[in-house]
Amino acid sequence: MLKILTLNNISVAGLERLPRDKYEVASEITHPDAILLRSFKMHDMDVPKSLKAVGRAGAGVNNIPVDKYSALGIPVFNAPGANANAVKELVMAGMLLGCRNVASAWDYVRNLKGSDAELNKLVEAGKKEFAGFELPGRTIGVIGLGAIGRTVANMALELGMNVVGFDPGITVEGAWQLSANVEKASSVDEVFAKADFISFHVPLIDATRDMVNSERIKLLKDNVVILNFARDGIVNNEAISEGIKSGKVYAYVCDFPNNMLIKHERVFCLPHLGASTTEAEDNCAIMVANQIRDYLESGNIHNSVNFPEVRMDSNEGYRLSIVNSNVPNMLGQISTVLANDNLNIIDMINKSRGELAYTLVDVDQVVGQATLDKLSSIDGILNVRAI
Ligand SMILES: NC(=O)c1ccc[n+]([C@@H]2O[C@H](COP(=O)([O-])OP(=O)(O)OC[C@H]3O[C@@H](n4cnc5c(N)ncnc54)[C@H](O)[C@@H]3O)[C@@H](O)[C@H]2O)c1
Repeated sequence: MLKILTLNNISVAGLERLPRDKYEVASEITHPDAILLRSFKMHDMDVPKSLKAVGRAGAGVNNIPVDKYSALGIPVFNAPGANANAVKELVMAGMLLGCRNVASAWDYVRNLKGSDAELNKLVEAGKKEFAGFELPGRTIGVIGLGAIGRTVANMALELGMNVVGFDPGITVEGAWQLSANVEKASSVDEVFAKADFISFHVPLIDATRDMVNSERIKLLKDNVVILNFARDGIVNNEAISEGIKSGKVYAYVCDFPNNMLIKHERVFCLPHLGASTTEAEDNCAIMVANQIRDYLESGNIHNSVNFPEVRMDSNEGYRLSIVNSNVPNMLGQISTVLANDNLNIIDMINKSRGELAYTLVDVDQVVGQATLDKLSSIDGILNVRAI
């Protein structure tokens, strides 16, 4: 029986991926093989000796001391992109909130008083205040073309918009998933100069803090809608306020309320709703449970934040999973131990990432404890497991 400790509530759809005949899953469990969590802060937690893997049902891993787990040879898995559709849909709502003045118009209607006939008159007189503009033919700039940004870019094309994207770190895999009709910008400034809407989908790091600032606002055309469903801090609040006053910014729609902006009539703040859908929670839990299961049962690694991607199809052999420091002569020492113990290698894969290397070896006979002990005692080997 494999034991899974949950440090937060994990969606049932995810837990169902761990069948009861093979897995014991509980919020209190001794000697867990793996831990599943969402936002629990693991920094002060002792690492159980039995632990083989950690799975975060979400994208960010700030709540996990990843380096500590790397040093112990324990992979940390996450669920990149599992909430991308949820955020994309809210960005779409945000675009319409911004350009059709939906929130202000709704507010206006809710405060009307009188008979239905009087309301009708007031509506006809008042609606011109809320006239907006349409999406097709307008240009949206998408900054950050990762899991979320590229779905936003592709969606905007489907809505008949032109799309200009900027991401100097786009992955090859990411580029394959992006429509060829997205125009590539060579700088953030170029996006600012071309766009009628700008949507941010970058992490908050030094290079992205205050990406929207007073200088950049001057580059904008008039009446631009700015959308921030990424992180607070990417858009400078004073700059937005000035931009609205000067007419450069038509509306600012974001997921990060603050006292300076919440009462502003051209700012629409939502209460960090981006990934708050049942589907996103289910997707995250399903993804990470599948990955943990694949690692525990086959040693394969997919979507780890500290280990390389490794997959080896199973065959007739007996499998060893070995984590070691990424230094010379490890494979030589591993194969010498196996040969000395008369174990014939049927198949093998070895990949590295930073200071870690990971090896899967299939051999022709059951691997005994004595062999495992010899492998574990090699200097630089962090973790050995017979699967
Ligand atoms: N509102 C919410 O509830 C919510 C939900 C999920 C994610 N997010 C946030 O959305 C953001 C994007 O998430 P994701 O899953 O798409 O992440 P991701 O890692 O898949 O993509 C981020 C992209 O930003 C790019 N990037 C980094 N620095 C850049 C820079 N200086 N200029 C341009 N591009 C740059 C990277 O190359 C990467 O492609 C993150 O900040 C995440 O925290 C918010």
